Amino acid sequence: MKVVHTIEELRDQLRGQLRVAFVPTMGNLHQAHLSLMKLARQHGDPVVASIFVNRLQFGPNEDFDRYPRTLEQDIEKLERERDVYVLFAPNEREMYPEPQSFQIQPPTDLGGILEGEFRPGFFTGVSTVVLKLFSCVQPSVAVFGKKDYQQLMVVRNMCRQFQLPVNILAHETVRDQDGLALSSRNMYLQPAERAEAPQLYATLQQVQAELAAGSTDLAALEAQARSHLASRGWEVDYIALRRQRDLGIPVDDEIQAGEPLVVLAAAKLGATRLIDNLEICKH
Ligand code: PAF
Repeated sequence: MKVVHTIEELRDQLRGQLRVAFVPTMGNLHQAHLSLMKLARQHGDPVVASIFVNRLQFGPNEDFDRYPRTLEQDIEKLERERDVYVLFAPNEREMYPEPQSFQIQPPTDLGGILEGEFRPGFFTGVSTVVLKLFSCVQPSVAVFGKKDYQQLMVVRNMCRQFQLPVNILAHETVRDQDGLALSSRNMYLQPAERAEAPQLYATLQQVQAELAAGSTDLAALEAQARSHLASRGWEVDYIALRRQRDLGIPVDDEIQAGEPLVVLAAAKLGATRLIDNLEICKH
């Protein structure tokens, strides 16, 4: 695997390649990232991964400074798996040589809700860096995990509206045996919090079970899930049942007609904020 730090070196490595499959990451790689690379390998050649902790998508009180930076270990993991041909690991000066005054502003009805409501500017930061990374790598395929469901949707919509020739592939959420979705932020959890953390997914599964059993009052299901987590010590940002296709709030007729739904959640355990979601197709 070649490790490059500049856009020029990256372009040298990729000259003439028309089927590049790309996996953008912020590093601290775990099994979920490695699965994204495997999927990329099935859909293109060569596979390019990037590691860049993007300051633009962190709020002023978020964890940019303490976000784990583990480049050496990440390189070892990628070398071991042998799926990636080029790792692009730019520094901040390379990605932002001047203040990034042109930025991509996602539409409010997609980028301003849920994560966008609790993390203002997050999707602007993500869209801007993803567009820049796409312009550096020029992939034909890019892989994103479904754990960041809204991010996946924002990126898909951006590509569609800007007519970018990049096919966005989604990888299923990768979970630990107890159901906790893998995330670099899980390492912040204290042991007792780690033991409690699978409750987030268990709560989403409970919502799914109640829908399958015939519940149609989505607001009541959300409220019940929220108070269940709150009673266990979670600070819930949101639990929301939405349409899969646009994350809009489904109306009664759609629910009766079996509109595909997704339940999304974000909640804090101590100082650690976790997100998760579950697609619900038959209810
Ligand atoms: O999901 C992530 O790791 C980041 O949001 C991404 C897509 C690499 C952009 O910085």
